[in-house]
Amino acid sequence: MAIERTFSIIKPDAVAKNHIGAIYNRFESAGLKIIASKMVHLSKEQAEGFYAEHSARPFFGALVSFMTSGPVMVQVLEGENAVLANREIMGATNPAEAARGTLRADYAASIDENAVHGSDAVESAAREIAYFFSAEEVCQRTR
Ligand code: TYD
Ligand code: MG
Repeated sequence: MAIERTFSIIKPDAVAKNHIGAIYNRFESAGLKIIASKMVHLSKEQAEGFYAEHSARPFFGALVSFMTSGPVMVQVLEGENAVLANREIMGATNPAEAARGTLRADYAASIDENAVHGSDAVESAAREIAYFFSAEEVCQRTR
Protein backbone atom coordinates (compact mmCIF):
# COMPACT_ATOMS: atom_id res chain seq x y z
CA MET A 1 0.00 0.00 0.00
CA ALA A 2 1.41 3.32 -1.05
CA ILE A 3 -0.20 6.63 -0.13
CA GLU A 4 0.11 8.73 -3.28
CA ARG A 5 -1.02 12.10 -4.52
CA THR A 6 -2.49 12.67 -7.95
CA PHE A 7 -3.65 15.70 -9.89
CA SER A 8 -7.17 15.98 -11.26
CA ILE A 9 -9.06 18.44 -13.46
CA ILE A 10 -12.82 18.64 -13.89
CA LYS A 11 -12.86 19.96 -17.45
CA PRO A 12 -15.04 22.81 -18.83
CA ASP A 13 -17.75 20.48 -20.19
CA ALA A 14 -18.40 18.85 -16.80
CA VAL A 15 -18.23 22.18 -14.93
CA ALA A 16 -20.74 23.67 -17.39
CA LYS A 17 -23.11 20.72 -16.83
CA ASN A 18 -22.98 21.17 -13.01
CA HIS A 19 -21.26 17.85 -12.37
CA ILE A 20 -18.64 19.14 -9.90
CA GLY A 21 -20.42 17.77 -6.83
CA ALA A 22 -21.19 14.39 -8.41
CA ILE A 23 -17.56 13.97 -9.43
CA TYR A 24 -16.24 15.00 -6.00
CA ASN A 25 -18.64 12.42 -4.54
CA ARG A 26 -17.02 9.70 -6.69
CA PHE A 27 -13.55 10.66 -5.43
CA GLU A 28 -14.60 10.75 -1.78
CA SER A 29 -16.69 7.56 -2.01
CA ALA A 30 -13.61 5.78 -3.36
CA GLY A 31 -11.61 6.89 -0.32
CA LEU A 32 -9.58 9.58 -2.05
CA LYS A 33 -9.15 12.74 0.02
CA ILE A 34 -9.28 16.19 -1.59
CA ILE A 35 -6.25 18.02 -0.17
CA ALA A 36 -6.27 21.08 -2.48
CA SER A 37 -8.93 22.54 -4.76
CA LYS A 38 -9.74 25.66 -6.75
CA MET A 39 -11.63 26.90 -9.79
CA VAL A 40 -9.56 28.51 -12.53
CA HIS A 41 -10.18 29.72 -16.07
CA LEU A 42 -7.03 28.64 -17.93
CA SER A 43 -5.23 31.03 -20.24
CA LYS A 44 -4.09 29.75 -23.64
CA GLU A 45 -0.50 29.75 -22.33
CA GLN A 46 -1.45 27.77 -19.21
CA ALA A 47 -3.31 25.14 -21.24
CA GLU A 48 -0.52 24.84 -23.82
CA GLY A 49 2.06 24.45 -21.05
CA PHE A 50 0.01 21.87 -19.18
CA TYR A 51 -0.47 19.73 -22.30
CA ALA A 52 3.00 20.40 -23.77
CA GLU A 53 3.64 16.65 -24.21
CA HIS A 54 0.81 16.62 -26.77
CA SER A 55 1.93 19.74 -28.69
CA ALA A 56 2.75 17.79 -31.88
CA ARG A 57 -0.55 15.86 -31.92
CA PRO A 58 -3.25 16.78 -34.48
CA PHE A 59 -5.80 17.42 -31.71
CA PHE A 60 -3.60 19.87 -29.76
CA GLY A 61 -5.22 23.08 -31.00
CA ALA A 62 -8.73 21.80 -30.35
CA LEU A 63 -7.66 20.52 -26.91
CA VAL A 64 -6.28 23.93 -25.89
CA SER A 65 -9.38 25.67 -27.28
CA PHE A 66 -11.65 23.33 -25.29
CA MET A 67 -9.65 23.60 -22.07
CA THR A 68 -9.84 27.41 -22.20
CA SER A 69 -13.56 27.51 -23.14
CA GLY A 70 -14.69 27.92 -19.52
CA PRO A 71 -13.55 27.46 -15.94
CA VAL A 72 -12.19 24.15 -14.65
CA MET A 73 -11.85 22.70 -11.16
CA VAL A 74 -8.32 21.60 -10.31
CA GLN A 75 -7.65 19.37 -7.30
CA VAL A 76 -5.09 17.22 -5.58
CA LEU A 77 -6.32 13.79 -4.48
CA GLU A 78 -4.54 11.70 -1.86
CA GLY A 79 -4.97 8.06 -0.97
CA GLU A 80 -3.80 4.50 -1.50
CA ASN A 81 -2.46 4.10 -5.04
CA ALA A 82 -4.17 7.40 -5.85
CA VAL A 83 -2.77 7.69 -9.39
CA LEU A 84 -4.16 4.36 -10.61
CA ALA A 85 -7.27 4.61 -8.42
CA ASN A 86 -8.20 7.93 -10.04
CA ARG A 87 -7.53 6.57 -13.55
CA GLU A 88 -9.91 3.69 -12.75
CA ILE A 89 -12.58 6.09 -11.48
CA MET A 90 -12.16 8.17 -14.67
CA GLY A 91 -12.35 5.36 -17.24
CA ALA A 92 -10.84 5.23 -20.72
CA THR A 93 -9.90 8.42 -22.60
CA ASN A 94 -12.62 7.73 -25.18
CA PRO A 95 -15.98 7.62 -23.32
CA ALA A 96 -17.24 5.14 -25.93
CA GLU A 97 -14.64 2.71 -24.53
CA ALA A 98 -14.99 3.67 -20.86
CA ALA A 99 -16.25 0.99 -18.48
CA ARG A 100 -19.74 1.35 -17.02
CA GLY A 101 -19.89 3.43 -13.88
CA THR A 102 -16.75 5.42 -14.67
CA LEU A 103 -16.78 9.22 -14.82
CA ARG A 104 -16.15 9.34 -18.54
CA ALA A 105 -18.87 6.78 -19.27
CA ASP A 106 -21.33 8.79 -17.20
CA TYR A 107 -20.35 12.41 -17.87
CA ALA A 108 -18.27 12.66 -21.08
CA ALA A 109 -19.75 13.22 -24.52
CA SER A 110 -16.71 12.53 -26.73
CA ILE A 111 -12.98 11.81 -26.69
CA ASP A 112 -12.17 15.50 -27.11
CA GLU A 113 -14.58 16.69 -24.40
CA ASN A 114 -14.10 13.97 -21.84
CA ALA A 115 -15.01 15.54 -18.47
CA VAL A 116 -11.88 14.84 -16.42
CA HIS A 117 -8.09 14.76 -16.44
CA GLY A 118 -5.98 12.58 -14.16
CA SER A 119 -2.22 12.17 -13.88
CA ASP A 120 -0.84 8.99 -15.47
CA ALA A 121 2.10 8.41 -13.08
CA VAL A 122 3.49 9.53 -9.72
CA GLU A 123 6.14 11.62 -11.51
CA SER A 124 3.68 13.45 -13.77
CA ALA A 125 1.39 13.96 -10.77
CA ALA A 126 4.14 15.81 -8.88
CA ARG A 127 4.84 18.00 -11.92
CA GLU A 128 1.15 18.73 -12.53
CA ILE A 129 0.43 19.51 -8.87
CA ALA A 130 3.32 22.01 -8.84
CA TYR A 131 2.03 23.54 -12.09
CA PHE A 132 -1.18 24.65 -10.34
CA PHE A 133 -0.58 24.72 -6.58
CA SER A 134 2.01 26.23 -4.26
CA ALA A 135 3.18 24.03 -1.39
CA GLU A 136 1.08 26.14 1.04
CA GLU A 137 -2.11 25.45 -0.94
CA VAL A 138 -1.80 21.68 -0.49
CA CYS A 139 -3.12 20.63 2.94
CA GLN A 140 -1.96 17.88 5.27
CA ARG A 141 -4.96 15.67 6.04
CA THR A 142 -4.36 13.98 9.36
CA ARG A 143 -8.04 13.09 9.84
P1 TYD B 1 -4.24 11.49 -23.27
O1 TYD B 1 -3.18 11.90 -22.32
O2 TYD B 1 -3.91 10.49 -24.33
O3 TYD B 1 -5.54 10.93 -22.49
P2 TYD B 1 -5.92 11.00 -20.93
O4 TYD B 1 -6.63 12.30 -20.69
O5 TYD B 1 -6.86 9.82 -20.73
O6 TYD B 1 -4.67 10.85 -20.14
O7 TYD B 1 -4.80 12.78 -24.03
C1 TYD B 1 -5.00 13.99 -23.33
C2 TYD B 1 -6.30 14.59 -23.79
O8 TYD B 1 -6.22 14.94 -25.16
C3 TYD B 1 -7.52 13.67 -23.70
O9 TYD B 1 -8.07 13.62 -22.41
C4 TYD B 1 -8.44 14.31 -24.70
C5 TYD B 1 -7.50 14.81 -25.77
N1 TYD B 1 -7.45 13.86 -26.90
C6 TYD B 1 -8.21 14.12 -28.03
O10 TYD B 1 -8.92 15.13 -28.09
N2 TYD B 1 -8.16 13.25 -29.07
C7 TYD B 1 -7.40 12.12 -29.04
O11 TYD B 1 -7.40 11.34 -30.02
C8 TYD B 1 -6.62 11.86 -27.86
C9 TYD B 1 -5.76 10.62 -27.78
C10 TYD B 1 -6.68 12.76 -26.83
MG1 MG C 1 -2.83 11.76 -20.28
